[in-house]
Amino acid sequence: MEIVVLRLGHRPERDKRVTTHVGLVGRALGARGMLLAADDRGVERSIKEVTKLWGGNFFVKTGVKWGDEIKRWKQEGGKVCHLTMYGENILDVIDEMREEAKSGKAGIMVVVGAEKVPYEVFGAADWNIAVGNQPHSEIAALALLLDYLQEGKELKAVFEHAEIEIVPKRRGKKVIMTRKE
Ligand SMILES: C[S@@+](CC[C@H](N)C(=O)[O-])C[C@H]1O[C@@H](n2cnc3c(N)ncnc32)[C@H](O)[C@@H]1O
Repeated sequence: MEIVVLRLGHRPERDKRVTTHVGLVGRALGARGMLLAADDRGVERSIKEVTKLWGGNFFVKTGVKWGDEIKRWKQEGGKVCHLTMYGENILDVIDEMREEAKSGKAGIMVVVGAEKVPYEVFGAADWNIAVGNQPHSEIAALALLLDYLQEGKELKAVFEHAEIEIVPKRRGKKVIMTRKE
């Protein structure tokens, strides 16, 4: 299942932390990468540092034009899911999304906003999905969408080429350093 996150409306002076968390949640919960429609190499750097240490192949691409990315994604047969509190309830559309994703024919682009999202995005999306119709957070909305879509399987993913790995324990902390000097 190929999933890519598109982050819109990032304001470098106030959204650094939230956008970094959007990327970290995407990475940890099964997305292949994040497209950032803004120039903020700091966000890109932070997420890449995490990936180098903790493994996997998550990509971050900054400075993209969101309209071009959505258009290209759709031309290549992908589907677009825009997370918005104004959309249809996730429980009413998740089966349709899962079927589409499992068919393997279409990758899914998940669009999350920061400030007001341009109306064109609502029109371009195959699904406008609300994780409940109350305002909350793009980080929470993304996490829940990824989890519902993949039915929890992403939580057992193995991250390749990690330099550090956690050994789950009921109490205490155990980590293995596998860094090759
Ligand atoms: C803090 S909200 C701001 C939304 C903005 N005021 C607007 O009217 O579009 C930022 C992002 O969080 C996500 N979000 C917030 N609440 C949501 C919900 N209930 N369901 C899905 N996504 C949500 C959306 O992607 C939204 O663009």
